[in-house]
Formats: sequence, structure tokens, C-alpha cells
Amino acid sequence: MNNNENNFKKIISHAKEYGFIFPSSEIYDGLSAVYDYGQYGVELKNNIKNYWWKSMVQFNENIVGIDSAIFMHPQVWKASGHVDAFNDPMIDNKDSKKRYRADVLVEDYMEKINTKIQKEVKKAAKRYGESFNEKEFLATNKRVVDYKTKITNISKRLYTSLENQNFADIKALIDELQIACPISGSRNWTEVRQFNLMFSTELGSINNNTNKVFLRPETAQGIFVNFLNVQKSGRMKLPFGIAQIGKAFRNEIVARQFIFRMREFEQMEMEFFVKPGEEFKWFNYWKHQRMKWHKCLGIPDSKYRFHDHEKLAHYANAATDIEFEFPFGFKELEGIHSRTDFDLNAHQKFSNKKIQFFDPETKQSYVPYVVETSIGLDRTFLAILSYAYTEETLDDGSERVVLKIPPFLSPIKAAVLPLVKKDGLPEKARKIMDKLKFDYLCQYDEKDAIGRRYRRQDAIGTPYCITIDHQTLKDNTVTIRERDSMKQERISIDSISDIISKKLKVNY
Ligand code: GAP
Repeated sequence: MNNNENNFKKIISHAKEYGFIFPSSEIYDGLSAVYDYGQYGVELKNNIKNYWWKSMVQFNENIVGIDSAIFMHPQVWKASGHVDAFNDPMIDNKDSKKRYRADVLVEDYMEKINTKIQKEVKKAAKRYGESFNEKEFLATNKRVVDYKTKITNISKRLYTSLENQNFADIKALIDELQIACPISGSRNWTEVRQFNLMFSTELGSINNNTNKVFLRPETAQGIFVNFLNVQKSGRMKLPFGIAQIGKAFRNEIVARQFIFRMREFEQMEMEFFVKPGEEFKWFNYWKHQRMKWHKCLGIPDSKYRFHDHEKLAHYANAATDIEFEFPFGFKELEGIHSRTDFDLNAHQKFSNKKIQFFDPETKQSYVPYVVETSIGLDRTFLAILSYAYTEETLDDGSERVVLKIPPFLSPIKAAVLPLVKKDGLPEKARKIMDKLKFDYLCQYDEKDAIGRRYRRQDAIGTPYCITIDHQTLKDNTVTIRERDSMKQERISIDSISDIISKKLKVNY
């Protein structure tokens, strides 16, 4: 097991031990790729939602939010293309009996080649020192150029085969590259087959006529079918956006990597409706605006990158992903798509209703174009958690695990701790707690030695600990301890709320 895998395992067990994330129905041995959020997890999740909602709905006068139902008319998914085309190519290994996404097996193979390129760069940088020119090295080193050519050829073939639904060729590619099952190490594969990712169920009683309905695989369609409702009731003018946070469901073939790929997850999506022809301007705007949102979390810029799509989905004319460096490498965190008028047009066609915007300036009606920003809430949670998880050895040789969660997102903002459980300190601490709890989620704790209480708060990412000691009784001051630096300052009780408020500000 390499360091990253080891670290990832520790993050998963920390999340469970400290009440962030539990496997679903654990007493029945869990349910694959379904998770429950615990008492601290739900707070972090709500804080992320809040940060996103504010940055969309509150800070933009032309964006409003909705909350549409999970069940939608079955025709919605016909129109959107999900019934016919929301498929993944899957392949089974006959020895391990494990199922994989065929395209992901090939992508992982390409990533391995990419890692070899990075190793060559590192080696050369060490050899040449200051005179090393990475750009030139990448363009001229024979081994690197061969690796890059190999990646380009594999990727061309993979994406052409995917587009043409040529599954026999994807199987041939897996055979040619001699890709082995990561579990059994064998190359004994089945053919590649299509697998629709939508869950279905029945609406209505079993005895009467039943209707097959789907659990929505994305929240976006709830926005598209409500375009006219919102536009008319809100008297919205283009450009304007509709935002929504909600559950989505996908019967993922390979559900792994903890909450990265789940079967029930949450999305935060915003569809921005624009005048046809203006979509690239807005696509660029939202691409950078969304990156800014991520970077305001205080996580280093180097953890994020854009991945512009060369191969575009049939409904898009521009697309990029914001990728994050998770413990298992750079992976998609958010997608930004210029979706043209594909969805609204499709719903016009399938519903036989006119879905258009009347432009008062040009006196013309048209189907607006759409720029979509779509981010996974659980993936954002994982990005923050995996970056925040830190093991430290302190000056005195002791160790601590601290979650360096951006303070404004931390589940508990301040812990109120009487130094000892006597001499009137708990009573004084309770008074402070009773005041502070109206401003933030605080936690009162009087059990165990103060050092152990600090460690418990570090482990759940509480940015501030307020300690009430004997001096507090004399002069109404307390100490405030900052989580990351562990520095303590003496402040007056009256200023606690203001000081914490200032520290919890996010500069968006
Ligand atoms: N409406 C566009 C859409 O749904 P997507 O790329 O399929 O696009 C958007 O999904 C985001 O939803 C992804 O970037 C990812 O963060 C999140 N997501 C997708 N599938 C997921 C899954 N199985 N588990 C957790 N998050 C997922």
C-alpha cells in the first residue's frame, strides 16, 4: 500500500470514528456505495451548501433557487437522452468476479503512463538542476515523447470507440494493452456491455396501473422543466440563472473511493440561461468564477486544475472540469458545460409546449442557450476533508490529528471549556455558552484534562477553543486557542463573539 492509499484509509476511518460519515445500514454490513452523514458530517455538508447557495443566489441578483421533486415524468428522461444514452460500458473479470468500467480501466492505464512521464521530469530536474527547462524536456526527450504519443493514440482510439459505441474495439484495446484485473491480476475478461445507470421504481399501487419512474440521475432536468415557471413568475430577463441543490441517484458500475463515487449523492447545479451567441462569453465567466469559489476555501491553488474537454458530449459546444487532487490523484470535482439549447429544445419537442423567451429588446422569441455549473456536494466534502486531515508531531513529541477545515465551514465553531470542573468555572462557562450558542454552533465540554479536550476539538476541526480559568472569575477574560497554530490569547468575554465573527469571514 503506498502512502496516499494509507492516508486515504486513515481519512475514512477518522471520518467514521469522529461522526462525519458512516457506511449506510452498517449493522447489516452496509450497502455498497451508500453512506450516511453523522453529527459533524451533516454540519460540514450544510455549511458547504450554504457557501454555494450564497455565492449563487444571494450574491447574484439574476440567479434564483428552486427545489424540484426527485420523481419526474418518465418522458423527461426520454427527452434528456438518459433513457437511451445514459450508459456506461462495463466489463467483468471472470476470475475475481469483479466488475469494472471498461473506459476507466483504459484511463487508469493512461494515467500510469502519465505518472512515468512525471517521474522522468523529476529525475531530469534533479540531474540538470537550475538549468533544467521542463517545457523543452517534455518536447524533446525521446522516452517522454514516446509515452505522450502512446497516450494520444490510446485516448483517440478509446474516445472514438466510445462515441461509436464500438464495444468490441474497447475490449480489443484492453486485450492489446494487456490490462489486468487489479484484484486477481488476471486478463480473463468478458465482453464489454452497456449498462444504464438510472434506477427505476413504480409510481402508484401494484394492483392498479403502474408507471415506471426513474430516480433522477441529475438535478438539472428539474430546472429545465421549470424554466418557464420561474421565468414568468419571477419576471426574469436573460441572462439569468436557476440554482438547485438536491439528491441524485446513479447505479454506478464501479462504486469505489468512498464518497467520491456513490449511488445516492448530492449535486449543486446552476443553469444559466443566455442569449444564443453569448454562450462562450458566459462559459468563460462561469469557468473562472467557479474556480475562484474553490480557491476561496484557502486550499492551495496547486490542488486544483482545469481539464478542458476536447471530445464534447453531443449537447455541448464547450466543456471543462475543475479537477481536485484527491488522495488517489486528480479527479473531477465540478463540470462546467455550455449545453447549447439542447435540453430546452428536447423538452419543447417531447412536451409539445413552447419553451421560449420573448426578448423585449429585439421583439423576438427564441430558445435560450444554457451554461451549466454542476458540482458534487459529496466530492467537495471529500476534497475538503482529505486536504484538512493532518497528522502532526508537536514540540513535546506528542502527536495530534487535526482537521484543518476552513473555519467558516467547520461543524463546530467554538468549544467552551472550563479548565476544571469546580470552583464555579463550569457555571461561568455555561453562561458564556448560553450567549455564544445564538451566534454559532458551539460545544460545551468539561470532561477530561484540558489537553485531551483540545485534541478532541482538533480532531473534528473546531477552529477556536475558549477556556475559562480562575482568572476569568477575577477579570472576565478567557483564553482563545486557535486550532492550527495552537496559539492562545487572552481576551475579554465581551469580545469573543466579534473576534470569532471576524475570523469566520470568507473573502469571496
Ligand atoms: N448535470 C450535469 C451532470 O450531472 P456530471 O458530470 O455527470 O454532470 C456533475 O455530474 C458532478 O456531480 C460531478 O462533477 C461530480 O462532482 C458529481 N457526481 C457525479 N456522479 C457522482 C457520483 N456517482 N457520486 C458522487 N458524486 C458524483
